[in-house]
Amino acid sequence: MSRAGSRNTGATAADVPVIETRALEKIYSEGTEAEVIALRGVDLRIMRGEFVAIMGPSGSGKSTLMNLIGALDTPSAGVYLCDGVDVSTLDREELATLRRDKIGFVFQGFNLLPRMSALDNVAMPLGYANVPPAERRERAQAALEAVGLGARTGHRPSELSGGQQQRVAIARALINRPPVLLADEPTGALDTKTGEEILALFKRLRDEGHTVVLITHDPDVAAHADRTYVMRDGQLDEESGAGSRDSGFDSNPNPDPNPQSRLSTDARPVIPNPGSKS
Ligand SMILES: Nc1ncnc2c1ncn2[C@@H]1O[C@H](COP(=O)(O)OP(=O)(O)O)[C@@H](O)[C@H]1O
Ligand SMILES: [Mg+2]
Repeated sequence: MSRAGSRNTGATAADVPVIETRALEKIYSEGTEAEVIALRGVDLRIMRGEFVAIMGPSGSGKSTLMNLIGALDTPSAGVYLCDGVDVSTLDREELATLRRDKIGFVFQGFNLLPRMSALDNVAMPLGYANVPPAERRERAQAALEAVGLGARTGHRPSELSGGQQQRVAIARALINRPPVLLADEPTGALDTKTGEEILALFKRLRDEGHTVVLITHDPDVAAHADRTYVMRDGQLDEESGAGSRDSGFDSNPNPDPNPQSRLSTDARPVIPNPGSKS
């Protein structure tokens, strides 16, 4: 089957990009003095099973793009196709269903509910999907086991380390088995070693068929992905050459002489995210 032009003719899921944007634009406070052009014609194409990084400095538009990909906000212009569906054609209820079933969100700050156990946090998104309680517990338990936390299901977030809390958040993001895991600075609040463990978990999820979209300001974090897009002032370009570090950022003061070192276990300090808003 030809890969092109098959979107509406019984294409298999593997043929259709799970995320595709065409000339996507976002302008905040358009026409006012406070106008900000946050995205300038973004073309993005991600296939199922890919591990892709979107890298750029603070303020370049990464979170804006994540909000559009996550159908949390609407673009000013351009097209966004999620799993082949033009998101602009969906009504409120269909959008809520798309957010629940297609995209799992992971944030820098974990965003767990403090009074709930790890198990209940992970089971939360199932409530809206009308899953019976016994099955909810079973699925949450399995999701926690899949991220290596099977023995911590009764703990509250405050009783878990940062890395463990992020694993809970990843289990929660995966509970509805979405094709895409969308992570905005997921290692930003973690030390280097713990961050590497979370990145290793993403690689494993990729190997198991998940699509991982990793948003980061840090070239060392982005280097774990198979492919990297670079965002600069609202413009997105695919980084040429696997592992290329020459992105012109100042966040890595000691450029790596060996771009292939991402294949080694070498772990340099992850520079903390300067802005909590990122
Ligand atoms: N809700 C908003 N209203 C107005 N401007 C915004 C809003 N969100 C982000 N911006 C602006 O859009 C630009 C891109 O921001 P953002 O997408 O948060 O970048 P990043 O995540 O790369 O740090 C910045 O100039 C930011 O100040
Ligand atoms: Mg951001």
